[in-house]
Order: sequence, then C-alpha cells, then structure tokens
Amino acid sequence: MTLAMNGTNKNGKRALVTGGAGLIGSHIVDLLVREGWKVRILDNLEPNTHKLGKPAWVNADAEFMQGDLRQREVIAAALREIDVVFHQAAYGGYMPEIAKYVDVNSLGTALMLEVIREENLPIKKIVVASSQAVYSEGAGQCPQHGLVFPNVRPVDQLRRGDWVVHCPICGEATTSVPTPENAPVGGETVYGLTKVDQEKLVLLWGKQAGVPTVALRYSCTYGPRQSIFNPYTGVIAIFCTRLLNDLPPVLYEDGEQTRDFSFVEDIARANLLAATTDKLDGLPVNVGSGKGVTIREVAEQISDALGIKIAPQAKGEFRPGEMRHLASGTDRIQAAGYKPQVDLASGIGRYLDWIRAQSDVKDYFSEAETILRSKGIVHSVAKG
Ligand SMILES: NC(=O)c1ccc[n+]([C@@H]2O[C@H](COP(=O)([O-])OP(=O)(O)OC[C@H]3O[C@@H](n4cnc5c(N)ncnc54)[C@H](O)[C@@H]3O)[C@@H](O)[C@H]2O)c1
Ligand SMILES: [Zn+2]
Repeated sequence: MTLAMNGTNKNGKRALVTGGAGLIGSHIVDLLVREGWKVRILDNLEPNTHKLGKPAWVNADAEFMQGDLRQREVIAAALREIDVVFHQAAYGGYMPEIAKYVDVNSLGTALMLEVIREENLPIKKIVVASSQAVYSEGAGQCPQHGLVFPNVRPVDQLRRGDWVVHCPICGEATTSVPTPENAPVGGETVYGLTKVDQEKLVLLWGKQAGVPTVALRYSCTYGPRQSIFNPYTGVIAIFCTRLLNDLPPVLYEDGEQTRDFSFVEDIARANLLAATTDKLDGLPVNVGSGKGVTIREVAEQISDALGIKIAPQAKGEFRPGEMRHLASGTDRIQAAGYKPQVDLASGIGRYLDWIRAQSDVKDYFSEAETILRSKGIVHSVAKG
C-alpha cells in the first residue's frame, strides 16, 4: 500500500493518527496537514460517538482508512510507510462496558506495538494519548506535611456525603495543588486503568525497542466536534446539551470538585510539540492549564454564555473512584515550550458557536444516567 494523499507534504513526514475522526484526533490531523505532513487516519467510526457516520470535518487532505485497530491486518496496513504515530483511538468515559475498554485501549495498544516489532516497521516516534485519569486523586497540600499524594476517597466516606480529601499521613483536610507527573499512578476507574496500561505499554516498549515515545496526560479536553451523541463525553458537552434542552446540568457530589480544562486546539499543538522535540522523549507529560475550575463554575459559565438561566442541580450523587480535585502540574511541558493559547471563556464561546450550528442536539444524558445508576456506577448518599 502506498501513502497516496493530497497533502503537499512540505516537510516529508508521514503520520498515522488513530482515532483521527474524533475530537482530539481530527484537530491533530488538521494541524499536521497545515504543517505540511502526509497524514493517514485510522478510525472505525465508533457508533456511540459517530451516530451519523463519517463526520464532515474529516480532513479531505488526509487518507481515511475506516477500520478497527484491534484487527492485526488493519493496524498493520495503517502503520505502513509511517514515521510518527499519534495514537488517539480509545473507548472512553464512564460506560459500563468493562471488557470493551480493556479490549480497545489496552489490547489495541499492545497489538499495535507487537505489529511494529514483528514487521520491523521503521516508526520514528509514538505519541500516545494518556489522561489525567491515571492519577488516583489530585495532589494536596497538608498544613503539617506539605505536598502529599492522597488516596482515592473510600466509598464509605462518600456515602456519608463527606467529599473532603484527607492527608494520607495525618488525616487533615488538604487543599488542592497542581499534580506533578511523579505523583503515584493508580487508575481508579476501568477507563483510568486502561490509560495506565496504554502509557506504560508505549513508554516501556519504546525504551526496549529504542523508539522515542511520549505519553501525553491530557486534562479534560473540550471544543468543537466533541460528540453531542455520546452522553459519556466531557462535562462541557453534556452541560451544553442539557441546557439547550431546557434541562438543568447535573452536578455530582456538591459541584465544588475542580478540573483542569484544555481547549482541543491546544491539545493538538501539544501533540505536534511532542512529536517534534526530543525533550519529552520517554516521559509521561501532563498537558493542561495548571488551573482547577469548579464544575459548578463551568455550569454557570455555560449557562451565562448561552443566556439560558437554569440553575444546576446537585442531588448528592457520586461516582466511586472519581477524583475530587485535579489541576495539572505543567512544568515539564512548559519547559519544552508549551503554552496554552485558548482560555476557558473563549474556548466555551468557540464550542457554543459550533454546537448552535448542529441540527440535532438531543439530551442523551437522562437515559445514560438511568443506566449508570442501575449498573452501580452512580451512587447516592445514604439517607438519614
Ligand atoms: N476528551 C478528553 O477530555 C480526554 C481527556 C484525556 C484523554 N483523552 C484521550 O484522548 C484520546 C482521544 O479522545 P477524544 O476525546 O478525541 O475521543 P473521541 O471519542 O472523540 O475520539 C476517539 C476516536 O477513536 C475512534 N475509535 C474508537 N475505537 C476505535 C477502534 N477500535 N479502532 C479505530 N478507531 C477507534 C472513534 O471512532 C473516535 O473517532 C483518547 O485516547 C482519550 O482516552 C481524552
Ligand atoms: Zn498531613
């Protein structure tokens, strides 16, 4: 198979973007094409994400291969004549399909590495999409012990409606501080575990095979093209679709938990940087803004920007294994030259402009919520 594509290929580099029809992958593809790369996309158009089939935004100057990376001959064909792999394809969110996560994310990545080795493919670099979900809980500051790495909060504590993160040494309440990459890696959800697998497999394999690899631990990523069909995607997409359907955004816990948000184009830029510098080789690398924002604040910002005044609802429900706070410590990627360019307010504005142009903005969340409750993924605080 020859890499027949329309791109001008000014810089001669050839990339494979797995999951290149998705939110992050498609923005990486656009950036690479603009930068003169030859790009191939491998994407199976997962029906949960792509209800209407192949999205119109798939870049026409890239070669599109529709296929499942779990099939040996498919991934082998996709990897031929490629210099750099941007491995973005994954199954995500809080869905109850445990085996599918492990199959797509963990085994799919393992198969890709095995094929590169077996076929002796001259891949020069792999950048793998990891996640902040690899951490158990965000780093904390204890009044007595300084920087600490708290454990995941026990389910019994959450059942009592106690959301506080305690110091693992003395039990004091901690305050959230940016989490550096050397924080312990846990994976407290099935998805999180598979992201740990993916980054460890790629980094370890890279060292053994002598291929430079980078694992980018993205913070919560949002922006145009975020699936409005998949109720398990990011909180910004879910809140927007709820409000546009005149329904209140649903906050887990009390809504005061914090997350770090990245606009999707910044994440694409981080991928390009990781592919073109050797400063990050062999490392897990946080990509984020370095700032935590409460989920309640996010709901309010979206509601203000949309001009739909529906107060968010906190019903005291929680998801075991979920972190309370996470802000990414970004010293490592900043030292390599990364600086996010789009702040949350303008990023939300850009997302809303896009979502307003979509014809079908149904609320898929209500149905999903019922399933999550029935499968024991969302729990309620004990009454009385
Ligand atoms: N969006 C976020 O907030 C976020 C945060 C941290 C990490 N990540 C990671 O970034 C990557 C991209 O996420 P996204 O938000 O763009 O998700 P997305 O669902 O929009 O895109 C994923 C793409 O992968 C494709 N895909 C899924 N299974 C596949 C398979 N078996 N074979 C081929 N293609 C397959 C899907 O069709 C989809 O187009 C994922 O690895 C995800 O775990 C995302
Ligand atoms: Zn302490």
